[in-house]
Amino acid sequence: MKIVITGGAGFIGGNFVHYMIKAHPEYEIIVLDKLTYAGNLETLASVMDKIKFVKDDIADRNAVFKLFEEEKPDVVVNFAAESHVDRSIEDPGIFLKTNVIGTQTLMDACREYGIRRYHQVSTDEVYGDLPLDRPDLFFTEETPLHTSSPYSASKASADLLVQAYYRTYNLPVTISRCSNNYGPYHFPEKLIPLMIANALADKPLPVYGKGENVRDWLYVEDHCKAIDLIIHKGKVGEVYNIGGHNEMRNIDIVKLICRELGKPESLITYVTDRKGHDLRYAINPEKIHNELGWLPETTFENGIKKTIEWYLNNRSWWEPIISGEYMDYYEKMYGNR
Ligand code: NAD
Ligand code: TYD
Repeated sequence: MKIVITGGAGFIGGNFVHYMIKAHPEYEIIVLDKLTYAGNLETLASVMDKIKFVKDDIADRNAVFKLFEEEKPDVVVNFAAESHVDRSIEDPGIFLKTNVIGTQTLMDACREYGIRRYHQVSTDEVYGDLPLDRPDLFFTEETPLHTSSPYSASKASADLLVQAYYRTYNLPVTISRCSNNYGPYHFPEKLIPLMIANALADKPLPVYGKGENVRDWLYVEDHCKAIDLIIHKGKVGEVYNIGGHNEMRNIDIVKLICRELGKPESLITYVTDRKGHDLRYAINPEKIHNELGWLPETTFENGIKKTIEWYLNNRSWWEPIISGEYMDYYEKMYGNR
């Protein structure tokens, strides 16, 4: 089995590469990644001898077709994306290029050279948000797409295109829509790693609005296991929601990180809210549980401890990231907030 993993130098893709090498040591793995600011070869350093790494853009038709012609993969799992909501609010263009045109380009190559499965890694953000005062409501696979940010709009567009390629061309596709992930190799512009890095440096912890927005957190390895199940046992043409019923308010996560690191809550600074900030995400994972037997294995209590420990033990992975270019980003986003 030959599998192309796009975005494999990023957070979830990188974890998926490590997971697949352990779960299926006989598979041939090709990572296709443009190495944007979010891609980091250090994430793959310990497994570089077990994979083939190709630095290219999924939206570059010539490069993608050349790779498919040479490799003729059996399966493609597309993690490659621009993934940060705040960046999409500043500059939507690259989100459309990578997330939509990139998806189209990959699927065109799959049509041209044949494929057993194209899997699109999507997000619960395509469903928009749920109200805070209706804890009985959850996203199911039937919830209408209703996006809020340029990021989620680009992911929803890609999902619709994937479904169109299934219906029109019979491309054997599956789509997964997962809730917020956390764990090792998470780029420190996202909530959990940003708060860990700032707290360790005794820097302010910038909480948007009142910190009451709710996210449904899943340990990244549980997401990897779900995708592994879907590409092997999932039904072609289907969408699977992935989430572990672990809803938390942002402010409670930040306070927990303070407690775990022995830092004072006085570091918490409330800053101007995100534009169009989604209130609550919450997944109903019944379909993947009933049809494929998937259940999350890591509790939030354990997962957050493991994650904090990982950041404490792997400063050489994240400290170089938060110097240089990232400082310019940080100043732009948080300087006058
Ligand atoms: P990430 O930003 O950490 O990594 C993205 C990776 O894609 C990077 O390695 C980057 O270099 C690469 N990439 C970007 N543009 C590319 C291009 N044009 N061509 C090739 N490679 C390119 O993202 P992540 O958090 O690991 O998310 C991975 C996927 O999972 C995304 O599709 C995202 O929408 C989805 N997702 C993320 C979460 C989450 O909580 N992080 C939750 C649900 C779904
Ligand atoms: P994020 O990690 O960007 O993921 P997403 O927006 O895709 O859910 O943000 C998670 C939540 O944390 C979201 O409600 C925004 C909030 N947040 C902050 O309060 N402060 C921050 O500095 C960041 C990055 C996020």
